[in-house]
Amino acid sequence: MIEILVLYYSRHGATAELARHVVRGIEGEPGATARLRTVPGSGAAPRSVPASGAVYASHADLQDCAGLVLGSPVRFGNMAGALQNFFEGTSGLWLSGALSGKPAGVFASGSTPHGGQEATLLSMMLPLLHHGMLIVGLPFTEPALGDTPGGGTPYGASRIAGVDGQRPLVAAERQLAQALGRRVAATAVRLAAGR
Ligand SMILES: Cc1cc2nc3c(=O)[nH]c(=O)nc-3n(C[C@H](O)[C@H](O)[C@H](O)COP(=O)(O)O)c2cc1C
Repeated sequence: MIEILVLYYSRHGATAELARHVVRGIEGEPGATARLRTVPGSGAAPRSVPASGAVYASHADLQDCAGLVLGSPVRFGNMAGALQNFFEGTSGLWLSGALSGKPAGVFASGSTPHGGQEATLLSMMLPLLHHGMLIVGLPFTEPALGDTPGGGTPYGASRIAGVDGQRPLVAAERQLAQALGRRVAATAVRLAAGR
């Protein structure tokens, strides 16, 4: 069994909900399982265990995983500082090449349709490429990509949570988040088998 790390930051829960669908996609792939982790918010008092939800990621989680799916809220068209901060602490892993050659995908939640989801997804790929990860996107062979009324892009999964954060996930957003998890997991399974 290979393990895919789903690492996300979420302040109000919209990215966390998308992360759970990524996990479902991973766990639907034979031979793969998911490990769900988060990071502390910027400026939050450091705690070893969060009050609720997924536990905080460690460098060992990155070291151990066979693949990574990284999720963030859209923050002015960029990934959240909390995740940026986490990656700025990974230079030891970069030096050792711990993530090099592993597949990775990205997902994001924003409030408005044209508020910077794609820019955020692309920005999230940058540290992953520096680490030598192999980026897995979403092709238009995924039917939901062609007619989504909400989020979902070739660069990764996404959702539009609404300005009040209350807009429910639409079917296409759910399907594409699951497809992203499945695609990263399937790639990792094939790489592990030398295929
Ligand atoms: C500082 C800040 C900047 C934001 N910038 C954007 C933005 O550029 N575009 C956008 O669509 N939403 C933006 N948002 C809204 C969040 O991306 C959105 O509410 C998201 O769904 C929150 O995810 P969460 O519930 O996982 O925390 C911003 C929110 C904050 C707090």
